Amino acid sequence: MIIIKSPREIEAMRRAGAIVGRFFEEAKSLIRPGATTYSLEEFAEEYVVRNGVKGAFKGYLGYPANLCTSINEEVVHGIPSRKRFLREGDIVSIDFGVVLEGYYGDAAMTYAVGVVPESSLKLMRATEAALENGIAAARPGNRLGDISVAVQETAESAGFSVVRDFVGHGIGKSMHEEPQVPNFGVRGTGPKLAPGMVLAVEPMVNEGGYGVEVMPDGWTVVTKDRSRSAHFEHVIAVMEEGSMILSLP
Ligand code: MF3
Ligand code: CO
Repeated sequence: MIIIKSPREIEAMRRAGAIVGRFFEEAKSLIRPGATTYSLEEFAEEYVVRNGVKGAFKGYLGYPANLCTSINEEVVHGIPSRKRFLREGDIVSIDFGVVLEGYYGDAAMTYAVGVVPESSLKLMRATEAALENGIAAARPGNRLGDISVAVQETAESAGFSVVRDFVGHGIGKSMHEEPQVPNFGVRGTGPKLAPGMVLAVEPMVNEGGYGVEVMPDGWTVVTKDRSRSAHFEHVIAVMEEGSMILSLP
């Protein structure tokens, strides 16, 4: 069952999302060669305290941090570490979520560390475009599969592949609600989209094949072929007129 949110609830989720969105604005300047992923985590810890929210990830199924920081061939769920340095030419995906007054916010972006290969810029642009096109397809009358197809076609037409093993999700009073929001699918299939549905759309796009595996730490997801991967995520509300992004400052 897909939980429909009232206008009041959507407003509460917009406040949670705005705090997530502002985190990315503020954290951006910390992303530079020589910084550790743990320095980003320390900033996130300070940020949640300063904003009077709870980090959504820390403690979730035993996850040890507020952020996921996934570098290059790491797809998602990379754990911040004092020993992990960002290097010139890397790309780093940052995923962050909060709980405010019982409602969840969640977003992710991939950043270039200094000057990166043209192919990585293309990968990041295609992943962000896939998210934008997925969001544009999230309107009443369309079906869930129409979001999935928009994401998949954007990524694949740029020569990349979409991860199958991890998907987007409904979100509300829990971080993960029904439905799953795959980044691949068939047009015109799945549940009908209706006003009040709130979804986290989050394409994970690989430069090579779509296969992934989990590292021995039990969390870090990497591409099977060790090609680079990008990840962009927003929480959106389906409205009468179309979709509204909730995870923006
Ligand atoms: N954005 C991710 C998700 O929606 C964050 C989960 S990371 C975890 O699933 F560590 F909390 F699991
Ligand atoms: Co998510």
